[in-house]
Amino acid sequence: MNLQESQFVSVRVPAEAEFVDIVRLTLYGIASKWGFSYEEIEDMKVAVAEACNNAVLHAYEGMEKGFVEVKFEMNDGGIRITVKDEGSSFDYAHKEAKAESLHNKDLSEINAGGLGIFMMQALMDDVEVHTNAGTEVILTKFLQRNEELA
Ligand SMILES: Nc1ncnc2c1ncn2[C@@H]1O[C@H](COP(=O)(O)OP(=O)(O)OP(=O)(O)O)[C@@H](O)[C@H]1O
Ligand SMILES: [Mg+2]
Repeated sequence: MNLQESQFVSVRVPAEAEFVDIVRLTLYGIASKWGFSYEEIEDMKVAVAEACNNAVLHAYEGMEKGFVEVKFEMNDGGIRITVKDEGSSFDYAHKEAKAESLHNKDLSEINAGGLGIFMMQALMDDVEVHTNAGTEVILTKFLQRNEELA
């Protein structure tokens, strides 16, 4: 496999928990070929798994289970991973507003759960969430090039 800039790989799996591993394995294969460190790959694996788990748990609630499509796009600056489902959407702006208000709260006041999106933000360089038809989470990680070794 010889990855080149602007090429992409896409994996489409049923929105079931047991398929999330397939996505993580694919991420591992691609990110290591593209030059990410072990630590960076581990961080991305957690973030991508959180996005997939959200699609598995929340997207198709009360309806027939659909799919999750994960697209890995390589570019010179790094990798862009899009996790997409066609389930029911949610009010992301509202969740963000809630997140800001978390800062003034004691940890014990914050309910368990509801941490997946924060984790993605902490582990990736950029996170975008689009909620039109279903949900699309775009996770970006920049490649730290070591100029001295180049
Ligand atoms: N793909 C999705 N489809 C529909 N709703 C979603 C999706 N992703 C997130 N949500 C909504 O946003 C909320 C926040 O997601 P987040 O991952 O931050 O927390 P959580 O999944 O509730 O808990 P945790 O991830 O900590 O187990 C979810 O509870 C759900 O209501
Ligand atoms: Mg979650």
